Amino acid sequence: MAGNAVGLGNFLRFPRQAVANGGGTFMIPYFIALLLVGIPLMWVEWGIGRRGGQAGHGSLPGQFSTLWKHPVAKYLGVMGLFNTLIVLIYYCYIESWTLAWTFFSVAGSMRGLDEQGMKQFLYSYQNLSDPSVHAVWVPFLFFAATLGLNFFVVSKGISAGIERLAKIGMPILFLFAALLVIRVLTLPPAAASPWEGLNFMYTPDWAALARPSVWLAAAGQIFFTLSVGMGTLSAYASYLRKHDDIALSGLATAATNETAEVVLGGSLAIPAVVTFFGVGAAVTIAQGGGFDLGFISMPLVFNQLPGGAWVATAAGVMWFGLLFFAGITSSVAMATPALSFMEENFGWRRQKSVAVIATLAVTLGALHILYYQRGFLDEWDYWAGTFGLVVCALLEVIVFVWLFGPDNAVAEIRQGARMYLPPRLLRFVLTWVTPFFLLVLMGWWTVQEAIPTLLMRGRAPEEVAVRWASRGVMAALFVLQLWLIRLAWRRRAAEGRPL
Ligand code: ALA
Repeated sequence: MAGNAVGLGNFLRFPRQAVANGGGTFMIPYFIALLLVGIPLMWVEWGIGRRGGQAGHGSLPGQFSTLWKHPVAKYLGVMGLFNTLIVLIYYCYIESWTLAWTFFSVAGSMRGLDEQGMKQFLYSYQNLSDPSVHAVWVPFLFFAATLGLNFFVVSKGISAGIERLAKIGMPILFLFAALLVIRVLTLPPAAASPWEGLNFMYTPDWAALARPSVWLAAAGQIFFTLSVGMGTLSAYASYLRKHDDIALSGLATAATNETAEVVLGGSLAIPAVVTFFGVGAAVTIAQGGGFDLGFISMPLVFNQLPGGAWVATAAGVMWFGLLFFAGITSSVAMATPALSFMEENFGWRRQKSVAVIATLAVTLGALHILYYQRGFLDEWDYWAGTFGLVVCALLEVIVFVWLFGPDNAVAEIRQGARMYLPPRLLRFVLTWVTPFFLLVLMGWWTVQEAIPTLLMRGRAPEEVAVRWASRGVMAALFVLQLWLIRLAWRRRAAEGRPL
């Protein structure tokens, strides 16, 4: 579960969001969202998963129909298949960059590059029509290798595949992160001292809290980083037994994730970049969006580290290696719901479902490689990886708390709990506070961002067609998944299995 939660979001997305939204100002709504929605939703998803798992369902459509005996329930669960599949595909593409950059670090390909050279190094990789640094086939090769590794792991199953990967990958990533943090925080001051970067992270500007965008960004980060509203947590929880603890384990997952994100993720890229380029430059880089902080600024910092070439190589391998392990332990979780769904409902063997989903991922992933520069990935990240998570989370709370019943929900979460959760407080938070927060967030988001984003206000004309095509592919996948759910339930009915 910790492998599922700790991902690229902790080390790439978090520092960028924090710096772009005012540093310390961002951390206040961030922690409020963690307490009011993040942790409660963590418990909700574990509860949904364990309960659904007892009835043999490893993905949201079946889990929802266990909790709410209504024919519509399974269709609402489509969000848990849709979000995970969409995010899986584009996430693996970004993950493949981390594999490529680990390789480039070992090969010393970025040694001695200045800022312009480092930009060119990244942009040529992202843009196939610019082969000035990388040949056209290079991104495809690393993407195929990344998908191959992911699907090899999931083909081995939960214990021999995913658990084994997490047992190797998680300690390595924490070790690499800890070593890098020590190096960064002991750097001699250059443009600034590393501590100024930390100061920036923890000094709030109270007036800036009135900006809705800061709240939306903070809540979005909590969703993405904890993997709530995706459907992966409930997929993993479906393997639990009835009396296994979920209260303390859910909290421990959130705590592990926050340690990786705030303590380690927050003490790496920001202080490193602030030390060499200053606070102002760090903000400009982060607000530029994209992945410049992780893939341009960090290698530039490594090139300037005292100790010469081997220190730069070691730092590069540790940084991109930790990103790769963080990424792959999350992406294997994203493959799980779709695989469970096909196996449980259509009787497919694991190898067959792996082959089919992998083929789909390769095909659609290729579109990301081809059209990354024109916003193809951006659309998926926004509609499934940001907005879709809130929609799914809201449905989860409605089904698990309101329709299954608040007392049942509280009893489910407390069953087997190894910590005391005050039942009345939990009931109040789950019934009112979390849904209220989610509703306000969704309404606000719709007005502030979703509508302008939908209408593509201010977009360059050459992007518009690609972005619409990107939405079309997503919509087709959504409809396909709804149709598969319908087919699955017909089959279950014909076979006399519980619906
Ligand atoms: N929770 C995962 C991450 O942070 C998806 O990257």
